[in-house]
Amino acid sequence: MLKALTALAYPRLCIETGRALGHKGAVTPGACVIELENVAYSYGDGALLTQVSLTLAPGSFHFLTGPSGAGKTTLLKLCYGALHPTTGNTLFFGEDVSRMSRDAVANLRRRVGVVHQDCSFLDHLSVADNIRLPLSVAGRQAEEAREDLAELMAWVGLTERAQALPPELSGGERQRAALARAVILSPDVLLADEPTGNVDWEMSQRLLRLLVELNRMGKTVLIATHDLSLIRAAKTQVQARVLRIVGGQVQQAGADL
Ligand SMILES: Nc1ncnc2c1ncn2[C@@H]1O[C@H](COP(=O)(O)OP(=O)(O)OP(=O)(O)O)[C@@H](O)[C@H]1O
Ligand SMILES: [Mg+2]
Repeated sequence: MLKALTALAYPRLCIETGRALGHKGAVTPGACVIELENVAYSYGDGALLTQVSLTLAPGSFHFLTGPSGAGKTTLLKLCYGALHPTTGNTLFFGEDVSRMSRDAVANLRRRVGVVHQDCSFLDHLSVADNIRLPLSVAGRQAEEAREDLAELMAWVGLTERAQALPPELSGGERQRAALARAVILSPDVLLADEPTGNVDWEMSQRLLRLLVELNRMGKTVLIATHDLSLIRAAKTQVQARVLRIVGGQVQQAGADL
């Protein structure tokens, strides 16, 4: 199913992105998709995150947890290059982001799908148009992508809502639309910030099944959440590593969740 989303795209993308970056070959073979090396981050006063080292191996599934204000969203932003570390390094597919041109970073960021915590949309565009927006930004023809879009809308169960406007969607429909938009470019890694916030248990399980399915297609998945029941449910379906932000540092959580 969903040929557009399968891991088969990975080697081709690696080579194409390598070319786009002006590299002679593919991006470092076998490299982790995202790495943070001894990263610290501060918004101004005092350090929010310190000595954070994180490795997302291809195909891995991670949760990131911690209390509100601990820095989960900030850490995700560091992972997709929206924020740059105060000290330390971020590596995308084995490449140090600080040594890459802006265009090269933009190219690699296309391989990272993000579900933002606020799930914002362009309210004057239909749900389908919002979901296809990253395709136009990436320069893909609407005609060429029509089949992929229809397949993706069906996968997230939004075919019937394709022409609705975002303000007409329920919370769960918004979350699924945000997920579809995040994966339409067939990224290698998906970063989801509270993807089950504001939905009931049944809908959170439906969203979880989609995320697990993406991981089974070979995608690397990182989910920020404070929902420990979601993590427990996921652990029965997938081998997930749980990270917790404590006192500005990232620790591996024990089995006592
Ligand atoms: N742009 C910003 N400027 C200044 N401070 C910020 C900014 N963004 C976040 N912060 C602060 O950094 C801290 C961490 O915020 P962040 O959004 O990363 O936390 P979080 O763990 O995602 O919280 P939540 O569970 O509520 O989403 C908070 O104290 C927040 O107020
Ligand atoms: Mg947050």
